[in-house]
Amino acid sequence: MKTVFSGVQPSGNLHIGNYIGALSQWVNLQNSESRIQNSELFFCIVDLHAITVPQDPKILQEKVLEVAALYLACGINPKKAHIFIQSENPDHPYFTWLLNTITPFGQLERMTQFKEKSEKHEANVGLFDYPVLMASDILLYQTDEVPVGEDQKQHIELTRDLAEKFNKKYGETFKLPVPVIQKETARVMSLQNPNSKMSKSDKDPLGTINLLDSEKEIREKVRRAVTDSGSSISKNPSEAIANLVTIYSVFKNQSFKNSTSELVGKSYGEFKSILAGLLVSSLSQIQKKYQGIRSGDKLLRQVLDEGAEFAKTKSSQTLKIVKEKMGISA
Ligand code: AMP
Ligand code: TRP
Repeated sequence: MKTVFSGVQPSGNLHIGNYIGALSQWVNLQNSESRIQNSELFFCIVDLHAITVPQDPKILQEKVLEVAALYLACGINPKKAHIFIQSENPDHPYFTWLLNTITPFGQLERMTQFKEKSEKHEANVGLFDYPVLMASDILLYQTDEVPVGEDQKQHIELTRDLAEKFNKKYGETFKLPVPVIQKETARVMSLQNPNSKMSKSDKDPLGTINLLDSEKEIREKVRRAVTDSGSSISKNPSEAIANLVTIYSVFKNQSFKNSTSELVGKSYGEFKSILAGLLVSSLSQIQKKYQGIRSGDKLLRQVLDEGAEFAKTKSSQTLKIVKEKMGISA
């Protein structure tokens, strides 16, 4: 039995970078023939991570449901995967405390996301401890694989280090999880700045295409995406164009190489209008499903309740063993 765990923060609008780096991979994992029989999949909405930077409490509650509904709209099937809200399973923060006691301070100081985020926000202790909460998410379920974008690799390396450290100190307890990162699509870049990744916290709205953007917004953002000094697609496109071709490939469901051969010679203007059309039609399908799910939040609530119940039965087993090993009363 293989266990897969991943999550997204409900800290803003889900964008096509999240879809390409994470959600579409999850759906592929869920649907691949070889996995159906013998995998346990957990997809979490990590609200306790989201509050490590400032959030408006009312908006956060709404975003949690929005992200959950988008998981379903993008193709996660609650009959095959367990979807739950992190804060609805108190084992996560509890285990974080236990793991804190074996986490080297210096290792957290080296986390690049912590460094980046603490430049933008006043750093609180929660932001510093963010990677340990993430390690807890993963280790509580004896996870084998963690499908994520490239930016999460360092956090998963820390998770492995903590698992090894725990095993050494208290006896064999945890499997070592591996990151699953698709090479070609690991880092979708901003449409306005090909040197920085597409991000929920980007101040320039033109850089990011959100899964719930309107047709007008999608067309406008693609039309205004930065290119380079060339005028038509070449065999070896520059970063900005390669980013657009990557996005095209994922939604077209074909390899980057095949997309480049298909598009070579097309003017940037022509390519952009093809790409915009593809995004509008793909995202409108997701949006239609999303609207259907949101029109009856009762069903969504049921999925989340069942997800949390199941998650708790699994995590409590791990936590019980951990507490015994650490000498903490159960
Ligand atoms: P976050 O938006 O930080 O909650 O990220 C949720 C998931 O989306 C993680 O697996 C990230 O690695 C992935 N992700 C976020 N931004 C990008 C991006 N620009 N390109 C590829 N994957 C991304
Ligand atoms: N830190 C991840 C991100 O920002 C989200 C996350 C939290 C996560 N816990 C996780 C991803 C566990 C994978 C596994 O993208």
